[in-house]
Amino acid sequence: MTHKIKIIAISGGSGSGKTTAAHYLQQILGNENCKILSQDSYYIDQSLNFKGDGTVNFDHPNAIDFPLMAENLSDLIKNKTIQIPIYDFITHTRKNENILFHPPKILIVDGILILSQEILRPFFTASLFIDIAEETRFKRRLKRDVEERGRQPEGVKKQFYSLVKPMHDAFVQPSKEYATFVATDDSSLKDALEKIKNLVI
Ligand SMILES: Nc1ncnc2c1ncn2[C@@H]1O[C@H](COP(=O)(O)OP(=O)(O)O)[C@@H](O)[C@H]1O
Ligand SMILES: [Mg+2]
Repeated sequence: MTHKIKIIAISGGSGSGKTTAAHYLQQILGNENCKILSQDSYYIDQSLNFKGDGTVNFDHPNAIDFPLMAENLSDLIKNKTIQIPIYDFITHTRKNENILFHPPKILIVDGILILSQEILRPFFTASLFIDIAEETRFKRRLKRDVEERGRQPEGVKKQFYSLVKPMHDAFVQPSKEYATFVATDDSSLKDALEKIKNLVI
């Protein structure tokens, strides 16, 4: 017998700790039950207009292939295996190959804009918005982008204040109203993840 999969959305601004929280939730739910799908996999190939100086707007909803993401979620709830695209953050291109992704019992979807999208919201059993101060998010993102994504500090700073922040204010922060749970610090995050665990297990 197959069970209908449950889908948990984890959203919040860049650097709010979504990916970290998603991995923590996956651990407490058990790796055998639970997989993570990232909005970051659905970036549209930027090879034609990327200038290498952080001027492409990666934080605007138009940068993301949300129709494909919705189609993939729809297939997963029908218990179908999907093929997820692979996005390369160094070259800003989509690779030719895909990853085969079998439907888990519980799916965590991680992304800054997932709650802003009307076509995605109906798929979520529960959702969490991590609401962390801009200054803290900027510091965390700077460290991560330089250390893990090969970016220059100046480019990261310019991108944050010219593109990330305006898109955050326009699209990300307002989507908080759609969240089942809002976490504002480590303690409320832990509480919310515990409540989500009780909802899905
Ligand atoms: N609760 C936390 N407290 C302190 N640092 C954190 C916390 N959550 C994440 N980080 C750090 O902040 C950076 C960004 O976290 P990440 O999970 O990648 O954020 P997001 O996916 O929301 O952009 C990472 O370097 C991570 O280790
Ligand atoms: Mg992340």
